[in-house]
Amino acid sequence: MFCMKGRVFSGARPTGRQHIGNYLGAIQNYVKLQDDYDCIYCIVDIHALTTLEETSVLQDNIREMMLDWLAAGLDPARSILFVQSHVPEVMELHTLLSMVTPLSWLLRVATFKEKAKQQPQNVNYGLVGYPVLMTADIVLYKADTVPVGEDQLPHLELAREIVRRFHTFFGATFPEPNAKLTDFPLVMGLDGARKMSKSLDNQIELAASPKDTAKRVMTAVTDPARRYRTDPGHPTICNVFTLHHFFNDGLVSQIERECMAADRGCVACKQQLAQGINGSLQPFRDRRAEIAARRGYVEEVMADGARRARAIAVETLKEVKYKMRLLPR
Ligand code: AMP
Ligand code: TRP
Repeated sequence: MFCMKGRVFSGARPTGRQHIGNYLGAIQNYVKLQDDYDCIYCIVDIHALTTLEETSVLQDNIREMMLDWLAAGLDPARSILFVQSHVPEVMELHTLLSMVTPLSWLLRVATFKEKAKQQPQNVNYGLVGYPVLMTADIVLYKADTVPVGEDQLPHLELAREIVRRFHTFFGATFPEPNAKLTDFPLVMGLDGARKMSKSLDNQIELAASPKDTAKRVMTAVTDPARRYRTDPGHPTICNVFTLHHFFNDGLVSQIERECMAADRGCVACKQQLAQGINGSLQPFRDRRAEIAARRGYVEEVMADGARRARAIAVETLKEVKYKMRLLPR
């Protein structure tokens, strides 16, 4: 199966039900890449432990996320879909790579400094090693292409540096992984001011009911300068308008015109957005419900994914140990 095509690996933390930011910024891209690459997609539960103090939600989050992936079109017949901790070789490789990674490189990573500030009570060792584990994820499967958002570029650069350093000590072993930026800009949340994110509670979940979707969309912040219905709006600074591009593509110029002329109000505009979202997502929601009703199916997909991932992982780890002289020549 894995021969001439390039190999894609990407990971995402198990945040539970996915929102339209995850969909437009990551999942949609994962689905498309399946046509041109051999793809491996991983739910990185070990990475999640670096910031989770409460782990009781972890299993639910993994299942909900996998359901979203499957319903969105990630295809277990073509791609490997698995959970990070189900292939424990990644932790072994993480330890081995940590021996060639200078601590100074890790301490200057911006995300580490940010997290340390955000959770001063829990600046754990795993948090420092986060990019080393991420490197292990990628190189364990010898992936050459890594689809990520812009925020992950420093991690990818570090992965390349770790690979190069490993090579200077032990010889060429891995491809240097290249980032492949998703073509979508950051999707802003319902507050219109910050990135759509579950932790900010400004998200629209893909799997929400049409009614809940409409209710949440009605809370969206529009153009703050538009105080009265008769004020002309400024669509270019309105996140509801931006979202219309994704879900009501054919209506965008009409919406823009009407908003600028104060011919349409924000309430009607949001109702129309909710309709557009609900209409576009209905096939996804039907598929999701159908998959969720198949008993044991998600577990089967994850077990099969882990089995196929592991077959690759075991081979890479053997090669690494051999090169590091942990195995006799
Ligand atoms: P997270 O849930 O933050 O771990 O993100 C999972 C993936 O979704 C990452 O690849 C992000 O780049 C992408 N993503 C998350 N939130 C957004 C957003 N608001 N806009 C665009 N992409 C996003
Ligand atoms: N750090 C990534 C994020 O927070 C998740 C991740 C873990 C990842 N391992 C990876 C992404 C390997 C790409 C490749 O989004």
